[in-house]
Amino acid sequence: MSDFATSMRTHTCGELRSSHIGQTVTLVGWVHKRRDHGGLVFVDLRDRYGVTQVALNPQIDESAHELAHKVRAEFVLKIRGKVSARPEGTVNQKLATGEVEIYADEAEIASASKTPPFVIDEDDTPGEAMKLKHRYLEIRRGPLMKRLETRHKVSSVVRNYLDEHGFVEVETPMLTKSTHEGARDYLVPSRTNPGSFFALPQSPQLFKQLLMVAGMDRYYQVVRCFRDEDLRSDRQPEFTQIDIEMSFVDENNVRSICEGMIADIFDKVKGMKINTPFTVMTFAESMRRYGVDRPDTRFGMELADVSELAGQSDFKVFKDAIKKGGAVRAMAAPGCAAYSRKELDDLTGEAIGFGAKGLAWIKVTDEGFVSPITKFFKPETIDGFKQATGAKPGDLMVFVADKERIGFEVLGALRLSLAKRLNLFDGSEYNFVWIVDFPLFEYDEEAKRHVALHHPFTAPVEEDKGLFETEPLKMRARAYDLVLNGMEIGGGSIRIHDRQTQSAMFKALSIGPDEAMEKFGFLLEALEYGAPPHGGIAFGLDRLVAILTGAESIREVIAFPKTQKAVCVLTDAPSGVDAKQLRELGLKRDLS
Ligand code: AMO
Ligand code: AMP
Repeated sequence: MSDFATSMRTHTCGELRSSHIGQTVTLVGWVHKRRDHGGLVFVDLRDRYGVTQVALNPQIDESAHELAHKVRAEFVLKIRGKVSARPEGTVNQKLATGEVEIYADEAEIASASKTPPFVIDEDDTPGEAMKLKHRYLEIRRGPLMKRLETRHKVSSVVRNYLDEHGFVEVETPMLTKSTHEGARDYLVPSRTNPGSFFALPQSPQLFKQLLMVAGMDRYYQVVRCFRDEDLRSDRQPEFTQIDIEMSFVDENNVRSICEGMIADIFDKVKGMKINTPFTVMTFAESMRRYGVDRPDTRFGMELADVSELAGQSDFKVFKDAIKKGGAVRAMAAPGCAAYSRKELDDLTGEAIGFGAKGLAWIKVTDEGFVSPITKFFKPETIDGFKQATGAKPGDLMVFVADKERIGFEVLGALRLSLAKRLNLFDGSEYNFVWIVDFPLFEYDEEAKRHVALHHPFTAPVEEDKGLFETEPLKMRARAYDLVLNGMEIGGGSIRIHDRQTQSAMFKALSIGPDEAMEKFGFLLEALEYGAPPHGGIAFGLDRLVAILTGAESIREVIAFPKTQKAVCVLTDAPSGVDAKQLRELGLKRDLS
């Protein structure tokens, strides 16, 4: 007997096999399909576990047969009957329960259904808005339900793994103070303290550090985080982190615990053995070779710095960029020497869309180099380009001359889009790489000040500590990101654990002593009560599950996600509130 015998049913709709033949069972499920064969009506009954064919035969039970004429798709039906072997030739190999069918001797409608706004059938793909509005029907369709099951499996493997390694799950507040992770906060007004606001946490960063000061030693939490930022396919306003913090560790200790966890997930969820340790690459190398700090290393097409060669040419576009302190970067697109004029124009348009001023190109063919700009270069210079990019006959070399940052951004993005179009990687490959030695700061041109690349609690590399006052942009952070197939799935660092360094950090970020006390006084104080050396990391659970399930967007692995405009179409949130509530909170609407 299955566990389900304790419910209204004796078995699920995915459970019955030929070994059950002869048993009388009770099933409950949704009407997946209904086929009327004159005398006999067949109903495919569906639940989370599968589909079972039920036959309603007037010769067995008159009322069951009558009811069969009333039921429609998505009615909930409870039936009782005998498991029988399907007649020869009617066995359905595609169905796990395909060897049997149930001849109902009792049937009742447990719940009726309106005609659904879209067909609940795995192959049907309804429109996005309709799917979100009726998310419960979309989940019932199947593929999303499978992804939610995988998500559950991942978090349960994570919990077991971390439990076995001595981590304790501790919950941290949702109503809290701004955590300064770099995004805008979601604010919650306080009724009992009019004019004051809580911020929902962008991450539990400071609480997990306080737990280390508390001596918890190893902490984790599968935790919701909130960030008001521009949404993309890999960003939601609320998302889930696997948040980890450990005392008495260095970068290697954190990385090796994480590698074990990731390997365990792939083993238990996908039955795949992952090779550890993962490759480690510096930030500088990643930028130089891939133009981004989260490289997709499943394929080549690496960038080449051809500034020196380009500087020797008569091509004004290249020469001018270098004169202005910029660089010329190039890349070989395999097989693209065959591109037509229109395809080249489209590619140039794409590069301009990514921020370039234009895209120079040279075709490498068996007959030589083909391009309107070859006349500006000595043959050996073009040969040099070919060598630097690794281009072969049949390939297209593309060039961006601009500020270094623009060159990286454009070619980094073009590399990804070309690789996708050219099918340069296969969906079943998983390439992990740790990125390390990030700069501690970057300069925010708009705010005209330094900002932390990771967050303000990240420790600098020991030997760079003297540069706080003099050359902060040269300082390296003890930070690490884990990148999987070009997606940042986790990031963390070894933390500052002394007040002096933390104060120097705030100063470098132009946060004055008063502001630091007001915003982070509780942390600065805690650092004076025996803070252990500590570090940690957080993984994006949504992103990890999206990659594991091959989902295009993290929305497809979240039961009730928000739209691009950060709206929940299903509940219609956010929505207005009545005047009384606003008064109680001491708030006034002003949409001017
Ligand atoms: P970080 O800001 O890098 O680090 O976030 C950690 C991981 O969370 C995921 N992530 C997101 N996923 C979906 N939607 C979002 N809007 C979103 N933002 C981030 C990413 C990312 O790698 N407190 C630090 C961690 C630490 O230092 O320990 C932190 O939050 O996969
Ligand atoms: P132009 O001199 O503007 O006619 O450009 C000549 C070629 O150089 C065209 O193919 C442009 O797309 C390309 N080009 C223009 N600006 C850049 C740039 N900054 N980097 C690379 N190629 C460029």
